[in-house]
Amino acid sequence: MQVIAVINQKGGVGKTTACANLGAALAAAGHRVLLVDLDPQAHLSISFDRVPAPGEPSVYTLLTGEHRLAEILRPTELEGLWIVPTNLDLTGAETELANEIGRETLLRDALRAPGEGAPEPEVVLFDCPPSLGLLSLNALVASQHVLVPVQAEFFALQGMAQLLDVVQRVRQRLNPRLDLLGILVGMFTKQRNLSREVLQELHDHFGDLLFPTLVRVNVRLAEAPSHGQTIFQYAPESGGAHDFRAVAEELRRRLGLVEEAAGGEGGEETRSEGAAAPAAEEAGAAEPAVETPAAGPGEPPPAMEAGA
Ligand SMILES: Nc1ncnc2c1ncn2[C@@H]1O[C@H](COP(=O)(O)OP(=O)(O)OP(=O)(O)O)[C@@H](O)[C@H]1O
Ligand SMILES: [Mg+2]
Repeated sequence: MQVIAVINQKGGVGKTTACANLGAALAAAGHRVLLVDLDPQAHLSISFDRVPAPGEPSVYTLLTGEHRLAEILRPTELEGLWIVPTNLDLTGAETELANEIGRETLLRDALRAPGEGAPEPEVVLFDCPPSLGLLSLNALVASQHVLVPVQAEFFALQGMAQLLDVVQRVRQRLNPRLDLLGILVGMFTKQRNLSREVLQELHDHFGDLLFPTLVRVNVRLAEAPSHGQTIFQYAPESGGAHDFRAVAEELRRRLGLVEEAAGGEGGEETRSEGAAAPAAEEAGAAEPAVETPAAGPGEPPPAMEAGA
C-alpha cells in the first residue's frame, strides 16, 4: 500500500482537484484507490457527492475511534475508487483532540486496523486542509510520500520552507520512511511571463522533483466537482483530463506501479497521448501537455510561447 499526503498549507493551490482526478486516473489504470478527505471544508466529499449527514460515520468518527475505516468508506461511481468522506463534524477535531495521547498517530493507527471487509487499496491519497495543524500532521505520520501541489505564481515558494521543515521534523521524530514524492504545478497559466519565471524558480529549487507535466488552468476542472464528477467523466477530452492522465502516469512510475516498458515503447511516459487531442473547448485544450523547463532539453515547452 502506497500512502500519499497531498499537502500544502496554502489554500486553493489544487490539492483537492489533484486528489480527485489523480485518484480517478489511477483507478482507471486498474489500481484500487482510497481517497481520504481530511479537510473540514469537505470539498473532496462534495466533489463525489458523498458528504455524510452530521453524526454519521466520517473521518471525524474515524479519528475519535468511534468507527473503523470499513464502516466509513464508500464506493464512488468509479470502479476501484473509494472515499472516506468528511463533513463539518471535523471542524472542531483539532482542538478536541489536542490533548489526546498519541494524537499524531490516530490516522495511521486507523489505517492499520481497517476492520472487516474493507477493500485493500494499493494507493491512498490524503486530501489535506490548508493548514499545518493536527489533521495535516496525522496525514504526514500515516504516509510514505508527500505530494505538494503549487500554483505557478509569485508566492508559490512562500511557505514551502515551512512545509518542508515540518516534513523533515516528522521524518526525524515520527515517521522515518516519509519522502518527498514531487511538486505538482496544479494551475498553470501559460499566458503570463511570471508563470514561466516561477516555473524556472521551482525547477531550480526542486529539480526532478518537479512533475514534468504541468496541469494547465482549465475551466472544466473547476466545473466538474459541481456535477459530482471527475474530469474523466465530465470532460474526458479536455486539456484538464489530458494533463491529469499524464501526471498520473508519472505518479505511477514514481510509485513503482508500472514496469518500465521492456521493449521500449518510446516516449510512452509523461508525454501521454499528445497527438490525439481533438477537442477544442477552450484555448489550451487541444494542445499537448505543457512540460517543465528541464523536461525536454533544448526544445522549448510547446504551449508556453503561445500568446493570449
Ligand atoms: N487546473 C485548474 N484549472 C482551473 N481551475 C482549477 C484548476 N485546479 C483547481 N481549480 C479550481 O481552483 C479552486 C481551488 O482548487 P482546489 O480546491 O483543488 O484547491 P485546494 O488546494 O484543495 O484548496 P483548499 O486549500 O481550499 O483546500 C477550485 O475551485 C478548483 O475547482
Ligand atoms: Mg482542498
